Amino acid sequence: MEVIITRDYDEMSQVAAQIIRRQVIRKPDSVLGLATGSTPLGTYKEMIRMHREEGLDFSKITTFNLDEYLGLPPAHPQSYRYFMNENLFKHINISPSRIFIPNGMAEDIDSYCQWYEEQIKKAGGIDLQLLGIGSDGHIAFNEPGSSLGSRTRLKTLTESTIRDNARFFDRKEDVPCFAITMGVGTIFEARDIVLIANGKKKAAVCAKFIEGPVTARVTASRLQLHPHVLVVLDEAAASQLREADYYRWVQLQKQKLVGMPSQVSFLRRPVSKK
Ligand code: PGA
Repeated sequence: MEVIITRDYDEMSQVAAQIIRRQVIRKPDSVLGLATGSTPLGTYKEMIRMHREEGLDFSKITTFNLDEYLGLPPAHPQSYRYFMNENLFKHINISPSRIFIPNGMAEDIDSYCQWYEEQIKKAGGIDLQLLGIGSDGHIAFNEPGSSLGSRTRLKTLTESTIRDNARFFDRKEDVPCFAITMGVGTIFEARDIVLIANGKKKAAVCAKFIEGPVTARVTASRLQLHPHVLVVLDEAAASQLREADYYRWVQLQKQKLVGMPSQVSFLRRPVSKK
């Protein structure tokens, strides 16, 4: 994993958006994996700005979202479909037919999850997956104890996730207990992965998944085994990393080597082609 420590939330968001821009420019029909939550909001704002001001073209892009609450219809203000429409899709030129978000109202959940996996395969697999991380170490809704080989399925949320997400709902009791989520194994098949995290609340979990053992107790830790993962943190989220100075030093050396601002050295790696 390459770890980039940025000044603050804005710089973290800009780095993530630059990586997405580079992917979209080099491969205009890329398949992007997208995430919800507070963390990617700045990245989406920057993508919208790039579309409006620089003409970044999303017309051939396909997207797959990580997860959706069970039982929330697309028009529900707390559904992830609604979140994506409001915070990204309605502001860029993406084709609605190429947007995939798990359907929280699916009746036959098992066959629906299988169908979702098949759509990812049919699209050629995910080129670039954007991830946040939960304070319990989850990626998507792969809560502690999820199999590190899991596929898209129904998942019961932990009480800590329900507590974390209650801030978006009127009452804690309104947070659904279940979600349809891509599995750790599904996410792991993405060709490139960018995980973003900010704030003090994420410092402990970032130290665990970056520098701790690979364990199903912290599902993000499987990313240590993936060959192309970039972790972009702000100072606060990086504050408990033992090797923070080393990660900064690596970025400095790369900057000297390639003569580019440190945070964009990752951008030099060729974009994967199907
Ligand atoms: P957050 O959620 O971005 O709202 O912190 C991240 C997650 O739960 O994956």
